[in-house]
Amino acid sequence: MTHPALRPGRTAVITGAASGIGLAAARHFAALGLNVVMADRSEAALQQAAAHLGAAAVHTEVVDVARPGDLVRLHEAAAARFGDVHVLMNNAAIGDNPGKPWNNTNGWRQLLEINLLGVIHGVQAFVPAMLAHDTPAVVVNTGSKQGITLPPGNSAYNVAKAGVKAFTELLAHELRQAAPGRVSAHLLIPGFTFTGMTGRAEKPAGAWTAEQVVEVMVAGLAKGDFYLFCQDHESTRAMDERRMAWAVGDLIHNRPALSRWHPDYAEAFAAFMKG
Ligand SMILES: NC(=O)c1ccc[n+]([C@@H]2O[C@H](COP(=O)([O-])OP(=O)(O)OC[C@H]3O[C@@H](n4cnc5c(N)ncnc54)[C@H](O)[C@@H]3O)[C@@H](O)[C@H]2O)c1
Repeated sequence: MTHPALRPGRTAVITGAASGIGLAAARHFAALGLNVVMADRSEAALQQAAAHLGAAAVHTEVVDVARPGDLVRLHEAAAARFGDVHVLMNNAAIGDNPGKPWNNTNGWRQLLEINLLGVIHGVQAFVPAMLAHDTPAVVVNTGSKQGITLPPGNSAYNVAKAGVKAFTELLAHELRQAAPGRVSAHLLIPGFTFTGMTGRAEKPAGAWTAEQVVEVMVAGLAKGDFYLFCQDHESTRAMDERRMAWAVGDLIHNRPALSRWHPDYAEAFAAFMKG
């Protein structure tokens, strides 16, 4: 069983489709018989990626998701080529680290414009038409576990992914009112996944493949799940659940922010993880 938006002849649009999870999704949707619109920053990378989709009906479009007008043009191109759009996957992101919270305003702006506003631009360009047509449609926004537990290291990336989580939860609620049961939003939460963002030539043992992430996404959509939550080979579902519970517990128990990484709480956190 697949989600009704993923039936043969429907149309999927994917940003960040030239690599990693977006490319794996494009291949999967093409194999299901969907028309696929692949959007990314470079024409050359898109052409190389599209070659992986064989004989499927594919359209490529160069976009920068930081630019709202590019997403409007992407919607127009998808509609002109294939008609109504049934699947929108707002997936493009960068993993650059602009640095400390008090540094590099331009780096922070660039990351937030791509990783957070890029998702919002996609929704604003595509969802009005999804609400207007009368067939099933889904929006999948790619978040990250980093947007939930906020592991220190790349503050800007975590802020963007926390924003994607909040935005997608609110979008799901609004769509439930606007088009109950027909148009829905979902948050894809990959774990550690071997992609272009990993920056390594070989798959680290702890990483999942992009195809594994897409399998979880498609299976979750079929069940109507909002949270499309992935594992990897480093953490189990039980470990992730405890980490998320500890993070919320900071507020409930009035611990310092991010106490998981605070030396005074190392023992308590380790004991909590052991259950
Ligand atoms: N790889 C992981 O471990 C991991 C974990 C959690 C979440 N994610 C998320 O998964 C999604 C896909 O990333 P990936 O891991 O497949 O990485 P990737 O680098 O392989 O793919 C990202 C794609 O997005 C494109 N892109 C970047 N900026 C763009 C822009 N401004 N406009 C259009 N396209 C742009 C890139 O060119 C690239 O093709 C991202 O949202 C990422 O944050 C990845």
